[in-house]
Amino acid sequence: MIFAANFKVNHTRVSTAAYMQALAGRMNEKKVEDRVLVFPPATALDAYKGDFTVGAQNAYPAISGAYTGEIGVMQLEEFNIKTVLIGHSERREILGESQEVIAEKFQFFLSRSFEIIYCIGEPLEVREQGDEAVAAYLLAQFEGIDTHGEKLIVAYEPIWAIGTGRSATVEEISSTHKMLKSHISAPLLYGGSVKPSNIQEIIGVDGVDGVLVGGASLEVDSFMALVTA
Ligand code: 13P
Repeated sequence: MIFAANFKVNHTRVSTAAYMQALAGRMNEKKVEDRVLVFPPATALDAYKGDFTVGAQNAYPAISGAYTGEIGVMQLEEFNIKTVLIGHSERREILGESQEVIAEKFQFFLSRSFEIIYCIGEPLEVREQGDEAVAAYLLAQFEGIDTHGEKLIVAYEPIWAIGTGRSATVEEISSTHKMLKSHISAPLLYGGSVKPSNIQEIIGVDGVDGVLVGGASLEVDSFMALVTA
């Protein structure tokens, strides 16, 4: 299983360092063999030691240059970071990233051998239209994306389940993952209100290769409860 923690705009450098140290110790103690990834905010990226992968929540598709407010490959390589999250719904919806911009980022980081966690997800009004509408909406988010890359992980995160406390149902996850799996060969994560109380049933769903977690990843105890579930 793959367990990925997306801190979003939470934690500082100091609290992230404490988190990583605690996580490394706890994973060691529990002899965790699953894959664990952590995406701290850009200011807290560093070369942390532990049996987990540290990735960037976002980066600009350039090595370096005049892109005020962004970070590029140069800033990631300082810490040996070779994993990046692309296409998160918060970047699509709040930061206005179009499919074209996302595909450009994807191609750029793919060509530099980055591991990419590529996120897709539908809004509630699409979910309410039924499975066919959901499939069309999600598959459109693969436009310009090479879904057969070796270092690719896809994360299905229904927008209406993110941060709402209301996860998708086991049936919804199951049917959506089944549909997606007929189009991709990459591992497929589920994200959206994953927490200690629902982790068992979610990772038990056929076609779920892991989870991408926001809120419940912010405390080491809670994240470890997911990893060891
Ligand atoms: P929550 O786990 O807080 O719903 O967030 C999910 C998410 O967006 C992870 O990328």
